[in-house]
Amino acid sequence: MNVRLQEMHVSEFLASVIAEWRDQPWGFYHDLARHLWDENRHCMPGEVAFATQGIDFTQIPTRGGFAEYPNTQLTPPDRYAFLRGIEQGLMTKSGKQAEVALAKAGGDELATMFQNFDWADEVLHAQIGRRWLEKHYGGRDGLNAAYERVRPAYDQMKDADLALPGRDWWPQFYAKYLKHAGPHPGRAPESFTGDAPSPSGY
Ligand SMILES: [Fe+2]
Ligand SMILES: [Fe+2]
Repeated sequence: MNVRLQEMHVSEFLASVIAEWRDQPWGFYHDLARHLWDENRHCMPGEVAFATQGIDFTQIPTRGGFAEYPNTQLTPPDRYAFLRGIEQGLMTKSGKQAEVALAKAGGDELATMFQNFDWADEVLHAQIGRRWLEKHYGGRDGLNAAYERVRPAYDQMKDADLALPGRDWWPQFYAKYLKHAGPHPGRAPESFTGDAPSPSGY
């Protein structure tokens, strides 16, 4: 749910793509406006999920790095290709499907519903991204190459970010609010429990 809460970063950089990528057909802006609306909505489940657990979401650390890198370093098409690459990557079993399974395993009906809606939206986003970006990059290979070109700089930034002091808040935070300690059928996979959450919305 923290990943959902952090999705405002996705909205921020998608908005900049719409504003700065000029002279596209009306359908482009129509599609991306839908995409932007979805990403705004994705923050709300995070907020609601924490509120229903009695947790003040405003106390949760956040960082603008996910939007900062593409917004300041990449052209609008590369920026959008960066997002599209991430969203396409979420179509694997360890992506959105795993998030739904995790919510379900935790017995959290609200979170399960949120993740189901989120998954459906992401399927659409991957399609929208392909529709416009393959046109720009001259096909699937060109689009994939653009993503491969811009991704490493983000990974470096993320690694440096995670090494900063104060970035290890998650284990204590998680332990404080964990309601079912110890191994049980609903125990979340390790990657979701011990690691610091991604600074991004994804
Ligand atoms: Fe999203
Ligand atoms: Fe998305």
